[in-house]
Formats: sequence, C-alpha cells, structure tokens
Amino acid sequence: MRNGGTEKPPGDKLGFGLYYTDHMLIVDYEEGKGWHNPRIEPYHPIELDPAAKVFHYGQTVFEGLKAYRTEDGRVLLFRPQKNFERLNRSCDRLSIPRLDETFLLESLLELIRIERDWVPDAPGTSLYIRPFIIATEPALGLAPSRKYMYMVILSPVGMYYKEGIKPVKIFVEPEYVRAVRGGTGEAKTAGNYAASLKAQEKAEGLGYTQVLWLDGVERRYVEEVGSMNVFFRIGDTVVTPSLNGSVLAGVTRDSVIRLIRHWGIKVEERPLPIDEVLEAARSGTLVEAFGSGTAAVISPIGELNIGGETIAISNNETGELTARLYDTLTGIQFGRLPDPFGWTLEV
Ligand code: COI
Repeated sequence: MRNGGTEKPPGDKLGFGLYYTDHMLIVDYEEGKGWHNPRIEPYHPIELDPAAKVFHYGQTVFEGLKAYRTEDGRVLLFRPQKNFERLNRSCDRLSIPRLDETFLLESLLELIRIERDWVPDAPGTSLYIRPFIIATEPALGLAPSRKYMYMVILSPVGMYYKEGIKPVKIFVEPEYVRAVRGGTGEAKTAGNYAASLKAQEKAEGLGYTQVLWLDGVERRYVEEVGSMNVFFRIGDTVVTPSLNGSVLAGVTRDSVIRLIRHWGIKVEERPLPIDEVLEAARSGTLVEAFGSGTAAVISPIGELNIGGETIAISNNETGELTARLYDTLTGIQFGRLPDPFGWTLEV
C-alpha cells in the first residue's frame, strides 16, 4: 500500500482503494467564516485533535465517483453534479454546512487536471474520487461541530469485487438491518457503512460476497446490497426498491433506470417484498438480477441465499440485460459509445 508519491502501480495490480495520487484537495470551515482556504497540497496525513467530533459522534459524509480514460487519451467524469447534489443532501441530514456545487465541481476539475497522469488506462481501471467531510471541532458536547474539513483524495482502481464482472453470491440478511426510515439510510455517511460490517463479515464467513438488506421495520422488503443498489428482472419488468428514505439514491441506479426506460423496457420503482423474489425464482420468472454502484459498476447476481434457501439466478451466468447495461454504461463512461444523455464531462 502506498500513500502519495510518484511511482504508479501497474494497471493489473490496482485492486480497490489501495493507492493514492500525489495531491489532495482541502477546504476548511469555521463558524462565522464559512468554507474558506481551498488548497491543493501534496498527499499527506492530517493531524487532528483526539477530541475532534468526527471520532466520537461520526459527523462525516462522503461521495464516490470516477474519472475514466478514453482510448484517445481524454479524461471523462460521469455525472459529477449528481454526486455533489447528493453530498449536500447528506450534509443536510448530518447537520454539516453545505458547499457551493459550482465550487465543488471546479475544484475537483483542477485537482484532476494536476493528477491527469494518474488516470489509469488498463482495461476496466479508472481513477476513483473520494470527496469527504469530517467534523474537526475538539469538543465532546453533543452538538453540530463548528469546524470541518472538506477533502478530496484520488485512488487509481481496478475491479471492486475479486469476481470482476462474474456473478456474485448474495446473502439476504435476516437479523441485522442497515437503516430505518427517518434514520440516515439515504445519506452517504460513515455510520451506515460501519453498521453493515458485522453482517458483511457473517456473509463472507458463509461464502457470500455481500449482504442484501431488508427493511428495518418488517424485515420483508428489499432495500439494497452492501455497496450497491439492486435490480430484479421479473418476467418482462425490471423492479428496484423505491427511494423510501432508507435507500441510497445511487447515481448509477438513476442511470440504469433511465437507460432501461430509454430501451422501452418496463421498470418499476416500488416496495419489493423478498417473498416476491423467492416466488419468482421458484416459478421461473426471475430472469436476472444485478447490483449497481460507482465502485461496483453493474454486478450480476448469480446466487441468493434467502432464509437458508439457495436460489441460482440466470444459471449463475450474467443475464442479457445485465450485460447490455454493463456494456452501455461503461461504453458511455469510457467514451466508446455516444452519450445521448450528456452524462459525461471532459476534464
Ligand atoms: C461507491 O460505490 O462509490 C461507494 O461509495 C461504495 C463504497 C462501499 C466503495
């Protein structure tokens, strides 16, 4: 593992989030002064007071997006405005002051222009962008911090899953829940991910890649998978859980829905009982399933464990729509296909 420096790791050894580029972006916030002092500095460890609120009360939010290298050497971002809109919505939920979205985009472009050579070009690789905010005020009283840092770090990455784009096995978690309505489920905040680790470990111990979460009240409705939103193709309709307040509004999720509609395929955003998925699998109408996310892209689901019953989906192979979505989305992101929706932004 390597933190900053000039030596670039080989494209086939990147893994996910193990290497960082030479520079980072930092902006400070202080009550009365607002967000100020934006600067790009060499990548470096930061020093924080042990009483900084982020350590004690988890007041922090983050984002994830990618920069893609095209075959002719250009660098593209994919719908970055959507990430910054969501960052601000997460800030609202965590009582963190918002940042100006034009500033967020422009400062990111400046950072990536400096780190342009770090955008890898090996197949399936990209530069993962991690903007985040932490509460830095050293005070143990439970109240919103009066000081914050906004930072952006960059990491050249390969595939998120060791399976690559092969189907993953998913364990439907019956006991633990990720989020409840009214909680922080739709915010991209560290606590949601910390709360998921126990079940993730359990699923891995049973030989599964990730957990599929059910709703926190009845443990009956599908919500999302560990690091992805989730879609099921049942008969001729694609179904994905609606954004009910505890599901993350994924940028890839939104792009998938728009592509599917554009192709004239029926897509429903609605509450989806896990029993309906099980029933569809038993009756043969569950055609395919996949997850969507920035890190995971489009990930076919080949097997689900629901209450101890194992169901194979698409014979454990990548379904036809899943493959079409993967090819189209990555085709647009890497500039190989036309971009009819105007989703990409050249750096
Ligand atoms: C992303 O897909 O960008 C995420 O933030 C998920 C994270 C667990 C890697």
